[in-house]
Amino acid sequence: MRIGIAGLGNVGAAVMQLLQSNGDLLSVRTGKKFEITAVSARDKNKARNCMLGDIDWETDPSILAARADVDVVVEVIGGAEGIAHKTVETALKNGKHVVTANKALIAVHGVVLAQIAEKVGLQLSFEAAVCGAVPVLKTLREGLAANRISSLRGILNGTCNYILSRMEQGGVDFAAALAEAQQKGYAETNPRNDIDGIDSANKLAIMVAVAFGRAPDLDSIFVEGIAALTPNDLRDARMRGGCIKLLGTADLTPQGELIQRVQPVFVPHNEALARVSGVLNAVEITGDFAGKIIVQGQGAGGTATASAIVADLVDIARGHRDCAFGVAASAL
Ligand SMILES: NC(=O)c1ccc[n+]([C@@H]2O[C@H](COP(=O)([O-])OP(=O)(O)OC[C@H]3O[C@@H](n4cnc5c(N)ncnc54)[C@H](OP(=O)(O)O)[C@@H]3O)[C@@H](O)[C@H]2O)c1
Repeated sequence: MRIGIAGLGNVGAAVMQLLQSNGDLLSVRTGKKFEITAVSARDKNKARNCMLGDIDWETDPSILAARADVDVVVEVIGGAEGIAHKTVETALKNGKHVVTANKALIAVHGVVLAQIAEKVGLQLSFEAAVCGAVPVLKTLREGLAANRISSLRGILNGTCNYILSRMEQGGVDFAAALAEAQQKGYAETNPRNDIDGIDSANKLAIMVAVAFGRAPDLDSIFVEGIAALTPNDLRDARMRGGCIKLLGTADLTPQGELIQRVQPVFVPHNEALARVSGVLNAVEITGDFAGKIIVQGQGAGGTATASAIVADLVDIARGHRDCAFGVAASAL
């Protein structure tokens, strides 16, 4: 399987490392050899956390996406619009499968891209877009495929969870906890996407599509971030026997209405989500026959995200073809 990797930042470099270090295992598990034929990023001279050897370089990732010697494009550039969108669209229109970690792109354009893919039998996969290494979409699409889902509740952003954990356990205020998160590399220089709840909303929209068969719709999600919380709020929550978590939730009412929210929520200490601290992510899914299922793990970071990307590549190598959202995109 010939792979083109578009983007060689935190995630792209880790995908290369994983493919290079676990290539033998992947061959045994799939019967296929995984070969990186081309890569793309902006700056060819930048030091990278991976071995590029004599792999072909394309400065324009949409050219990489159309190359004859690429069967699958891994898009790890980021952003809903612009070059990431063009790269994925070009790949699909040129007969390539696509694996992406780009939640913003999938939340906004996922349905149209999935329609293009499904029309011609290509795979569009984005497990890594929701909670990094945690196989939440696979759990919904495969393990819980027989269930009607009634609710999703998730800690979907590790940066926010780290900040809230530090405010609760260390008694520090929001600004200090954010500065600490940035110093440790958990938060970006511009952290607004995380702390305002936008990143969580993108992930919730994608999960909702897979769980409830409804197109991602960011406008129908009520979104409130964590910047207004104070150490007092967290202390009060502890006195009341719980903590505050930024949760993404989706609940189906008996009338069939779907209520979607991202907001700080009081979580009693006896609930599993209350024990998810630091940068971890977790999602609690309720199905009518399965009951409650919780998946938890590393929701971000290059290596954790690479794990989910390469799992999607393994599925493609094994010949698994599935509708991107678990139902035909044309029905969303
Ligand atoms: N980081 C995480 O923990 C994580 C977790 C889950 C999902 N994701 C998603 O994974 C994607 C990548 O994230 P990341 O953290 O790896 O980002 P990143 O470190 O900023 O890497 C982005 C890469 O894209 C390249 N790039 C940007 N614009 C380009 C252009 N016009 N042409 C060619 N290459 C271009 C950059 O090239 P240069 O290196 O030359 O600048 C860089 O290599 C995003 O969609 C993100 O939401 C990330």
